[in-house]
Amino acid sequence: MAKISVIGAGMTGSTAAHWLAEREIADVVLVDIMEGMPQGKALDLLEAMPIIGKDAKISGTNDYADTKDSDIIVITAGLPRKPGMTREDLLVKNANIVGSVAEETIKYSPNATYIVLTNPLDTMTYMTMKKTGLPANKVLGQAGVLDSARMSAFIAMETGVSVQNINCYVLGGHGDSMVPLTRHSNIAGVPLEKYIEADKLEAILTRTRKGGGEIVGLLKTGSAFYAPSMAVVQMAEAILSDRKLILPCAVYLDGEYGQKGIFFGVPVMLGKDGVEKIIEYELNDDEMTALQASANAVTKSVEELKGLVEL
Ligand code: APR
Repeated sequence: MAKISVIGAGMTGSTAAHWLAEREIADVVLVDIMEGMPQGKALDLLEAMPIIGKDAKISGTNDYADTKDSDIIVITAGLPRKPGMTREDLLVKNANIVGSVAEETIKYSPNATYIVLTNPLDTMTYMTMKKTGLPANKVLGQAGVLDSARMSAFIAMETGVSVQNINCYVLGGHGDSMVPLTRHSNIAGVPLEKYIEADKLEAILTRTRKGGGEIVGLLKTGSAFYAPSMAVVQMAEAILSDRKLILPCAVYLDGEYGQKGIFFGVPVMLGKDGVEKIIEYELNDDEMTALQASANAVTKSVEELKGLVEL
């Protein structure tokens, strides 16, 4: 079986391990700085496997040597966003954590593909590429799958149609400037506007953009973890199965969508080589303007990071 190491065994990391093991997608190694916690969660999860008849092996550790020869490294290590805190407030603290995790893990798994979840997402993914020295196709950030899923969930709630019929695409940075593409989204091939009145659709787009904050406001002591971790599972499975699945992910752009040198959410094809292709949608002027505004926010965050930590 493939091997996935999940760094950070908190809410998102341990829930990702749970979904991965339950689906027998890979053996999972949970790593955390807290002693005993990853070992305890891993053992508990392992003990659940006989009940569902699955043979995934799950182990917990504080030692990066145990991540040796991972096919995929998932980075969730970091501090979660607290109420009132912006993702950017977390920049320096999480950059140092993610930077050290990237350096430690690449020593043991030089051929791994990295999926980053730690926020601020676009910048932490950039940090991971710099610190691992990996080519761009091997490093991606989880954002668009989650943002698109949130939009789909809200559309399903509004229309009562099965989520299986709802196709939503949210591109751009993983922040308030993200760009839900209504023109490309649809319900079983029918444009959203045919189902939903304009003001209601606009409210859904706003709720999507603020989706992370809504959960933080409700939980009060942490941020979302079920949907983010499930998004990781979809991405990891697509890579391990060489599925050629097209998903919106944060990837390094080198001119695509008019952007260069940033990680940014765009549709990509995922397969055994990680990011195998960047799909370029034809966008109209309004969509390009919104995407450019989002790219400007990400560029600003990367510039800020460069001034604060060594890259
Ligand atoms: N090495 C390994 N693990 C670390 C390190 C480190 N240097 N620093 C912190 N951690 C661990 C913490 O001990 C904790 O168990 O990372 C874990 C983070 O888990 P939670 O606090 O439960 O946070 P979670 O909700 O999982 O979110 C993690 O994902 O979606 C993003 O914004 C979110 O950046 C946050 C990250």
